[in-house]
Amino acid sequence: MIKLRNVHKIYPMGGSSIHALKGIDLKIAKGDFVSIMGPSGSGKSTMLHLIGVLDTQTKGTVLIKDTEVAKLSDEERTSFRLKEIGFVFQFYSLLPELTALENVLLPKMMSEKNHDDYRSSAKEILMSLGLGERLNNYPHQLSGGEQQRVGIARALINSPELLLADEPTASLDSKSAANVISIFRKLNEESKQTVVLITHEQDLGKMADRGIFLRDGMIEKEKNF
Ligand SMILES: Nc1ncnc2c1ncn2[C@@H]1O[C@H](COP(=O)(O)OP(=O)(O)OP(=O)(O)O)[C@@H](O)[C@H]1O
Ligand SMILES: [Mg+2]
Repeated sequence: MIKLRNVHKIYPMGGSSIHALKGIDLKIAKGDFVSIMGPSGSGKSTMLHLIGVLDTQTKGTVLIKDTEVAKLSDEERTSFRLKEIGFVFQFYSLLPELTALENVLLPKMMSEKNHDDYRSSAKEILMSLGLGERLNNYPHQLSGGEQQRVGIARALINSPELLLADEPTASLDSKSAANVISIFRKLNEESKQTVVLITHEQDLGKMADRGIFLRDGMIEKEKNF
């Protein structure tokens, strides 16, 4: 599903530059559930952005589903992302002026003319995440955990094979956080979705099958849980 070969990322910063990834070699198979851990600034988000086709490496090869994504045009990258990848971010990133249901439909609004056809699947996903009673609530009328579940529902509307999450539990209490991770676990087990999850918290990271520990832009160790 995912292959990184000797991947480097250098951010130019005025006269100097930041070497955020220093030769990453990594393989993630279809159906894997992997957590990425490591100190702040170790390159976790940078790596996830490359896997999610949001950014391009400076050196090395990134293959997602056997596609060398750096070689795609901007347009091809966007449609690849919409079709294959679901993203969940740290801050719920819901649009405040849209209801829960409309937020989940947002990716369809961007990619399809007849997004109304997807209303029932959006409802179904929200219901499966325990939000059946919250469809028409606006984000400010939802708890943090509920907002994060709407964010997950939105990531699922395109039935992506690959689900990426960057600290999806960072702003949640420990119970809601564990709940969010169990949702990923369930999706992984029932729908065979490949999940790559960044977390600061070792306890949550251990709910994955495998942990990848980054330090200073390099893979320090990998561990099976
Ligand atoms: N767009 C950018 N431009 C310049 N430097 C960046 C950019 N994004 C990240 N960096 C730098 O690259 C390094 C790795 O950043 P990254 O965001 O990948 O770390 P992280 O492991 O996700 O950290 P955190 O746990 O704090 O989110 C850091 O030194 C950071 O300052
Ligand atoms: Mg980060």
